[in-house]
Amino acid sequence: MSERYALIGHPVAHSLSPRIHAAFGRQLGMAVNYGLIEIDASGFRAAVSAFAADGGAGLNVTLPHKEAARALCTTLSERARRCGAVNTLIRGAKGWHGDNTDGAGFVHDLTERHRLDLRARKVLLLGAGGAAQGVAPALLDAGIDTLWIVNRSPERADALSDRLGEPGRVHTRYWDDLPNLGVFDMIINATSAGRSTSTMLLPSTLAFERTLAVDLSYGEAAIAFLSWAKSTGCEITLDGLGMLVEQAAEAFRLWHGQMPDTDPVYAELRAEAVGLHSAE
Ligand code: ATR
Repeated sequence: MSERYALIGHPVAHSLSPRIHAAFGRQLGMAVNYGLIEIDASGFRAAVSAFAADGGAGLNVTLPHKEAARALCTTLSERARRCGAVNTLIRGAKGWHGDNTDGAGFVHDLTERHRLDLRARKVLLLGAGGAAQGVAPALLDAGIDTLWIVNRSPERADALSDRLGEPGRVHTRYWDDLPNLGVFDMIINATSAGRSTSTMLLPSTLAFERTLAVDLSYGEAAIAFLSWAKSTGCEITLDGLGMLVEQAAEAFRLWHGQMPDTDPVYAELRAEAVGLHSAE
């Protein structure tokens, strides 16, 4: 039975992950069996068990299962524990080991591909769901100055802040406070607003020309936030396509023990990025 890998989530139909993992495998001369498992929250545990019984060796986990994935792990990496969310599962002799490659992928994309220095930045994180949880610890480790978490439902921002455990550097504020927070050196859109029909209103006072604006989505889902950022004068605006490729490479390394070269895969996807649907 050959080892199987897959992305599990709902919806996953437009996912680029099978294509990315197949490209990594070709590059390294490996036949990678990576598929998609479309399942809603109620079927998650049963689907993971069935996958394991059928030769499943590793899973990427996306919406809405990142917290449920954490709950079924026998062991967790340090970074997954700090995130509170798991996006990569690795099958071991004693069960599933959970990790989270989102933060490493995010920081690698910004600092290595785009050569940006994150140190000493005052950072605004919009959102406190799975995507925000994934990147928050890695941002702190990258040497930012302060992290301001603002979420539509304030209790989720407080829960993330409590888990991060750095009260001097991490602050939460209400959405209505946004006009009073001054300007930021970096603003990250980790909400799913761009993937829904709902709109997200942001005051122009948050940004200036030196603000780095990053949307964790890509394609059409990133357009509204990045347009807002440009309209406030931000000179550097980035979407989440690079992060997508980097977090996949980090998962690939965990499963197969080899790190692929992400540049050609990123370049190929970037060439067609405008029409892409944002999904892992
Ligand atoms: P993901 O894995 O993409 O983070 P998620 O865990 O469902 O998905 O989280 C979605 C995030 O987008 C949440 O922070 C959500 O805010 P709530 O916690 O208040 O629901 C945020 N979000 C979604 N639509 C939004 C909107 N129109 N305005 C502001 N925040 C929004």
